[in-house]
Amino acid sequence: MNGQPRHVRITGTGSALPGKPVSNADLMARGIDTSDEWIVERTGIRTRYLAEDGQSTVSLGTEAAQRALQMAGRTAADIDLIVLATSTPDYIFPSSATLIQDRLGAHANGAAFDVQAVCSGFLYALVTAEKFIRSGSHQRALVIGADVFSRILDWQDRSTCVLFGDGAGAVVLEAADAPGILAGVLHADGAQNRLLCVLGTVSHGQVQGDPFLRMDGQAVFRFAVKALSDVAHEAFAQAGVSADTVDWLIPHQANLRIISATAKRLKLPMARVITTVAHHGNTSAASVPLALDEAVRSGQVQAGHRLLFEGIGGGFAWGAALVDF
Ligand code: ACO
Repeated sequence: MNGQPRHVRITGTGSALPGKPVSNADLMARGIDTSDEWIVERTGIRTRYLAEDGQSTVSLGTEAAQRALQMAGRTAADIDLIVLATSTPDYIFPSSATLIQDRLGAHANGAAFDVQAVCSGFLYALVTAEKFIRSGSHQRALVIGADVFSRILDWQDRSTCVLFGDGAGAVVLEAADAPGILAGVLHADGAQNRLLCVLGTVSHGQVQGDPFLRMDGQAVFRFAVKALSDVAHEAFAQAGVSADTVDWLIPHQANLRIISATAKRLKLPMARVITTVAHHGNTSAASVPLALDEAVRSGQVQAGHRLLFEGIGGGFAWGAALVDF
């Protein structure tokens, strides 16, 4: 790059949702002891999408990737890196990233791997892929977040099963002359690993431990709001810009109350926050790229806008990225 710093830009977005919307009333009809009022008041969630038989992280991730490639005007042959964020891979191995590479027809074309950082997974994948491209080792990446949390929920536990949905989102990242990704900050604190976890695995041909998601909701809430506002300020400092230059905050869509408390701490009005949690629920690693794609396709997010992505989840792991779109 002639000695000039190499920049990395998002050139396409895509997303995929499975099945049909499932409302809070639909959950009650399935026998869950809850109410629309309780769910809406505490979380803002009204509907979510749940994977049907035959749909999976790989199928949804592939669909989202195809749409992102189409928007970028690229084909799978142009891609030399696939980074997939997921906590619900189709198999223990091979990685779901390699299965998506196969379905896209990008055979033996560069590298493909999964990253596991739960609901902050897309931030981890984006920041990782950005470093590959900035280094010059790779030219064009697909960064995908895809999860099917409906398969790791205890549908008898009303305090968690109403919160999550399934889906996938993707972006194409490319080397560019003008700045795109301005800053990326990642953090983890393994001491908090029990706040949100699935403490099960497959061993000796059997499920060992507890294969369902467990969460201390109030502790997660307290941890998330502080961590998300602190990491945003780190991203602003890294890029040397102020919070008021941000056109859109695109946060992990866990819960409307976490999102609005974070926006308040950052002094960003809700009119500048993209929220999709009401109709997607919490789609874990998919939530930020799903919200981004929806906002791009609806015309809210436009070329030249400055975006702040944020994610946090089990581990605990969290991060932020500041992006000129
Ligand atoms: N419907 C009706 N009642 C319910 C439900 C439900 N789905 N779930 C729990 N309740 C009841 C409880 O049984 C309890 O009843 P009780 O008082 O008779 O014992 C009552 O509601 C209060 O339960 P709490 O767990 O104290 O409810 P809280 O006000 O903390 O709200 C919630 C729970 C929404 C999970 C909240 O803690 C929260 O927003 N936490 C943030 C966690 C989050 O968003 N996690 C997403 C994943 S993490 C991530 O992505 C960052």
